[in-house]
Amino acid sequence: MKILVTGGAGYIGSHTCVELIKDGWDVVVVDNLSNSSSEALQRVEAITGRTIEFHQADIRDKAALSKIFKTRSEMHHHVEPKNEEQNNTGNCSIDAVIHFAGLKAVGESVEMPLEYYSNNITGTLALLEVMREYGVKNLVFSSSATVYGDPHALPIKEDFPLSVTNPYGRTKLMIEEILKDLHVSDPSWNISILRYFNPVGAHKSGKIGEDPLGIPNNLLPYIAQVAVGRLPFLNVFGNDYNTVDGTGVRDFIHVSDLASGHTKALPKLFTNPGVVTYNLGTGRGHSVMELVRAFEKACGREIPFKIVPRRAGDIAACYADPSKAQKELDWKATRTVEKMCQDTWNWQSNNPTGFNKIHTG
Ligand code: NAD
Ligand code: WQD
Repeated sequence: MKILVTGGAGYIGSHTCVELIKDGWDVVVVDNLSNSSSEALQRVEAITGRTIEFHQADIRDKAALSKIFKTRSEMHHHVEPKNEEQNNTGNCSIDAVIHFAGLKAVGESVEMPLEYYSNNITGTLALLEVMREYGVKNLVFSSSATVYGDPHALPIKEDFPLSVTNPYGRTKLMIEEILKDLHVSDPSWNISILRYFNPVGAHKSGKIGEDPLGIPNNLLPYIAQVAVGRLPFLNVFGNDYNTVDGTGVRDFIHVSDLASGHTKALPKLFTNPGVVTYNLGTGRGHSVMELVRAFEKACGREIPFKIVPRRAGDIAACYADPSKAQKELDWKATRTVEKMCQDTWNWQSNNPTGFNKIHTG
């Protein structure tokens, strides 16, 4: 079975490629490398011992996407697909799409809303149109816990009310709604919406990991760069929240656990579930200071920090009830916060400047 992975060179995408290949799926990647390096895919090949078919293209480029779907159909059937949907249906050997491609920085989305709506919404629409054209109607979509806004209770269940406060979050919520409308119009679509909590960590090999451009926005990559000496100290955004120690509490989940959530979501798609939504989190909250202490243990160095005012838009605490995914997908996160910090440190200390490639795009 062949899976097209959009955004497969990125942080979560590259780790998911490893798990997919490990589980015997064939993987095709499309990525425009706007926030990643092709070196990540070479490292995935080194980890798995398999080659990956890679297309450098923007998902908004329908002609380029079509080529990826068409190439596969010609390879197997030697027929020229026509424009009408029914003529392409069945001629394509891609069985499902896992859709990671998009922009993801909350602050940047406030500064550059049009880029976010274009990459995330227009990009998803282009992908869905090409999928429909080729009769590929199985999709796993990367959503985010950000769609829950400031939750009225904890832990967060999938049926909680949804609300968003920034353009990035709005793109995720809009895409979820687009996907539901699509399924209403054509129930033969099967769509798994996965709401990720806070992905951290790296593959245990230390060969792939998170490699943000510029100064990191997120906590763990920031701590890791302080540990390795690229940044002088961590700014802790507020210690006056109503939490265990006053700092923010999040559901940090190891990226390899998150990746295996995708390999579990795939077989479910082939049971014709319609649209299904799952939280991917551990179900446990950890505070910012708990993460700092766990990272200090993992790296054997002190992490200097300063308490600074709260970051606008942050909530006090957020963690998942992941029991629906456990029950319906037989999936559960198993890696501890200690392991998340060890693996992040292993990646960061072996690759102090990340993939060390000039980012393109
Ligand atoms: P990432 O930036 O590392 O990966 C996204 C990949 O998509 C990158 O390789 C980028 O080059 C590619 N891309 C972006 N726009 C594209 C376009 N128009 N055409 C083709 N490729 C494009 O981010 P990630 O952390 O791996 O996130 C993957 C997905 O998961 C995103 O959709 C993100 O919104 C979602 N998500 C991430 C987090 C998180 O904290 N990392 C949390 C919840 C949801
Ligand atoms: C975690 C905690 C900060 C950096 C974001 C997106 C969310 C999702 C995951 C995509 C908070 C504190 C952080 C720093 C700090 N992404 N912090 N100093 O904000 O929970 O979630 O990433 O979908 O949509 O909003 O993650 O890692 O930025 O912050 O004190 O330098 O660490 O205040 O309490 P967040 P984060």
